[in-house]
Amino acid sequence: MMGKIIAFHSYKGGTGKTLLSINLAATYAKNGNDVCLLDLDFRAPSLQARFKTKGNGYWLNDYLNGVCEIKNALIDLSHLHSGTGKFLVGLANPSTEAIREMSAKDRKWEMKALGRLLALRNSLLNDMHLNYLILDTSPGLQYSSINAIVAADVALVVTSLDTSDIIGTQRMVHELYDLFEKKTMIVVNKVLSDMLSSPAGNNNFSDYFHNTYDLPVLDSITCSCDVLRVGGTCVFTEEKQEHPFTNSLKRIAGKIEKL
Ligand SMILES: Nc1ncnc2c1ncn2[C@@H]1O[C@H](COP(=O)(O)OP(=O)(O)O)[C@@H](O)[C@H]1O
Ligand SMILES: [Mg+2]
Repeated sequence: MMGKIIAFHSYKGGTGKTLLSINLAATYAKNGNDVCLLDLDFRAPSLQARFKTKGNGYWLNDYLNGVCEIKNALIDLSHLHSGTGKFLVGLANPSTEAIREMSAKDRKWEMKALGRLLALRNSLLNDMHLNYLILDTSPGLQYSSINAIVAADVALVVTSLDTSDIIGTQRMVHELYDLFEKKTMIVVNKVLSDMLSSPAGNNNFSDYFHNTYDLPVLDSITCSCDVLRVGGTCVFTEEKQEHPFTNSLKRIAGKIEKL
């Protein structure tokens, strides 16, 4: 099987990109796939804190700057799930200095960084034979997020039901994504459970959202107090294997395989 690159993006922040990136990666790894998850949100790095790791001295910042190879910037977190797949993670440098430095990069640097991102298909998917590369990005129209979308096979745009989020997502998808002709699907996240609770509620809601907003919906996910309660302190799908949120991720993983 040829590997697939999946980018998570959104118009607004806080829609669930990081949560879904981690849990989708863990779901694939648990099923025996070799997976790599990269934190490309250089403005608000999250994975270092979520995984409570010090890293190994190299960051994805270093890879994009051309000072190390991708292998140096990856850590192996396969022990975090109960399956047989490899679970590799690349971290964004969360120091204030690094965040400021990354937000001051110019177009020329970003063009080079795109080249480095595109090279990952060869190094991670072809040479290391990984099955999935999952990219977690910054919200909005950052140059670095657009680079990630360009490098991906599938772009998943996560939106909440907030009107400003939906309208921004519509504009972004119809004006920007259509330009790239990228396989793009919407994940509607934090949907109230009563909106999904009718028989076949999940599909009904996704159809309704699709018809109302003219957006291609992959799936809809309930807002879950249990997810909020653990506050990103564990890999949720691993801790709560029978939970509806875990089932949503399994369903989404299956749908992406078929895209
Ligand atoms: N389906 C959900 N149910 C409950 N809380 C959620 C859900 N999706 C995301 N969250 C919470 O929303 C917050 C923002 O999520 P996060 O993944 O950090 O968003 P982003 O990476 O898009 O900024 C986190 O506290 C996360 O746990
Ligand atoms: Mg995030």
